[in-house]
Amino acid sequence: MQKNIYNIDFPTETVVEGKVKILVPKLEAFIKTPSEYAPSKAPVFYNPVMELNRDIAVLALQTYQKMLNREISVCEPLTGCGVRGIRFAADVKGVKKVFINDINKKAFQLANHNAQMSGLNERITVTNEDANCLLGCYGAPRKRFDAIDIDPFGSPVLYLDSAIRALHNGGLMALTATDMASLCGVYPKACIRKYGGKPLRTEYCHELAVRLLAGCLATTAAKYDIGIRVVFSHSTAHYIRIYATTKYGAKKADESIQNMGYIPHCFNCFHRETAKELFPVERSGKCSQCGSKMRVAGPLWLGKIFDKEFCELMEQEAKKRKFRLGERIRKILALVKSEVEAPITYYVIDKLCDALALPVPPTKKVVEALGKGGFQVSLTHFNSRGIRTNASAMNMKELLRKAVTAVTR
Ligand SMILES: C[S@@+](CC[C@H](N)C(=O)[O-])C[C@H]1O[C@@H](n2cnc3c(N)ncnc32)[C@H](O)[C@@H]1O
Ligand SMILES: [Zn+2]
Repeated sequence: MQKNIYNIDFPTETVVEGKVKILVPKLEAFIKTPSEYAPSKAPVFYNPVMELNRDIAVLALQTYQKMLNREISVCEPLTGCGVRGIRFAADVKGVKKVFINDINKKAFQLANHNAQMSGLNERITVTNEDANCLLGCYGAPRKRFDAIDIDPFGSPVLYLDSAIRALHNGGLMALTATDMASLCGVYPKACIRKYGGKPLRTEYCHELAVRLLAGCLATTAAKYDIGIRVVFSHSTAHYIRIYATTKYGAKKADESIQNMGYIPHCFNCFHRETAKELFPVERSGKCSQCGSKMRVAGPLWLGKIFDKEFCELMEQEAKKRKFRLGERIRKILALVKSEVEAPITYYVIDKLCDALALPVPPTKKVVEALGKGGFQVSLTHFNSRGIRTNASAMNMKELLRKAVTAVTR
């Protein structure tokens, strides 16, 4: 294959995402068996499945820019072929400068090519450095970025310190984590090591994953006297994503740390609690409902994981755009909006019915029954069979028994 000026010497193809055309590795050329994970076999990383992640990143960045109401600078220090950062320059109004970077030489070359092809290269700087080195150089006043998007292989924690330091007061931090086996409790030791909190393999482990990542960001930022506010988060099958704004000041950091705590969970009766305290007082460790030993997740973030206004503005942005995955995105945003004020953790109907040896009633029926019973109730984007409610596990089980009897009668 002939090399071009950017030395791209592997099979490629052009794809369109948002408003940009991007040259990406031709994934079929790099897999030997259908079961292989193509993006990691190619010389430069590109995952078409993450289009949804990037679309939502565009909406969040546009929302943030509108809230600031001025031009912004953005850094994407782990860019692969450059698609995310170049989309920020093309798809988000008010982005003055985008810095994209990758340690992989071939990724740097491809991202450079794509930046040139986009015609936006005057606003895009492409570098070939270690992400922490790059971010380290921007950690001084007047050099910092307005927004940083960390989208790594696995965990973003390796980049948190340098990213926090390279973000302006009031900046937006976007983080992806794909190490779900650690965050969801399959490898608890890895989660404790990386995130400083214990995961639990509960039915709401994806929410715990978001809270563990947000907790890790909050404690990292607090070291630098920076507080955080999580404005949006979402989860899909293989990754989670959080968006948080920062505020400088020891007081802001203290306030943010006050959102840290624990979630004790009873695997016997599904009872769960929240304890907003970083250094917990002595507790019996027994479930108040059934006396079984409670397991504890945390320390993790017990503060808000969505902001109502931010979600509404994202929804408005989504309506204005014709994304290929627009319908899916609108569904996610509508669900997130409905769960903004809902209680922490959710019940999964199938899981409860399984334990009670009951057939699973339609979710709608359960929602109606909870509403009639005077309980707060909402669905959740985390799980299509999940229900957020202030009803206790005991209430839920009673209600399910009744709902099933009503349906089967
Ligand atoms: C998951 S991919 C990025 C995908 C990209 N953000 C997107 O939306 O398509 C992670 C990238 O990080 C790069 N990388 C890994 N370690 C790095 C480091 N220490 N510094 C800079 N880049 C790094 C890899 O070469 C890879 O391209
Ligand atoms: Zn119990």
